[in-house]
Amino acid sequence: MTNSYEYIEASINGNLGQITLNRPKVLNAINRPMVSEILSAMEGFEENEQVRVIVLSGNGRAFAAGADIDEMANDNAIDFELRNQFKDWDRLAMIKKPIIGAVQGFALGGGFELALCCDLLIAADDAEFGFPEVNLGVMPGAGGTQRLTKLVGKTKAMEWLFTGKRISAQEAIQFGIINRMTAKEVLLEETLKFAEGIANQAPLSIRLIKESVLKAVDAPLDEGMHFERKNFYLLFSTEDQKEGMKAFQEKRRPNFRGK
Ligand code: HXC
Repeated sequence: MTNSYEYIEASINGNLGQITLNRPKVLNAINRPMVSEILSAMEGFEENEQVRVIVLSGNGRAFAAGADIDEMANDNAIDFELRNQFKDWDRLAMIKKPIIGAVQGFALGGGFELALCCDLLIAADDAEFGFPEVNLGVMPGAGGTQRLTKLVGKTKAMEWLFTGKRISAQEAIQFGIINRMTAKEVLLEETLKFAEGIANQAPLSIRLIKESVLKAVDAPLDEGMHFERKNFYLLFSTEDQKEGMKAFQEKRRPNFRGK
């Protein structure tokens, strides 16, 4: 399946849903229609039983060099308020299937925020993350100050946000921002391989693990523990739990069906 969008490419390959940001001439600067298209593609994947993992990547020299500065240069506060500027971003955060980002080149500003919306990140060795908004007299608005701080803690988040300094792939590994680093030439291949591995796991386990881990980011421990326990119980009403445990006992590979 291939959908035709203006600012992205989306396709389904096997059990992977793939989205490629596709404005390479402006380093995949994220304009509002692009966010809507990403959301539309992801929501389509969410409803498609065949898709088990979503892979998001850039095209050309960047993952994305930020929100489209030309689009917002003349905006004022009330434009944002009336437009409910971040409503599509909020819905992206509600996607239940795992999202793996493949980052090459620049992931700046809104591009970094989009990467931080992914559950796992693989980056090329040339990847550079950062929040340069401070140089434009603004600040991140799609979760950057919150997600980065929760991920790396106040000390480095404040430094990077105050200075706009770029974070190399090597540093991003060190601070747990990305899961793996690869040579640029094999970034997509390695990401797809990694995604395949996850796509072969029991889909409902993956779904409830994602939900539970995200809960841990926000909730106090006792609330998170309670949430985890209910999800653990829930998995015992799936066919995949019976299949997974039976396959173990019969010393064969399980065939998970997401039911
Ligand atoms: C619009 C952009 C853009 C952006 C790059 N371009 N980033 N257009 N919005 N965010 C365009 C350039 O204008 C240029 O177009 C073309 O892409 C290539 O970029 P160059 O600057 O010529 O490339 P280079 O010299 O290699 O520099 C790369 C760069 C630089 C360091 C990434 O482009 C840059 O600083 N970009 C802006 C980064 C940034 O400030 N991002 C944060 C945006 S604010 P032409 O037509 O000249 O060839 C933000 C807020 C998020 O993200 C709020 C929530 C969503």
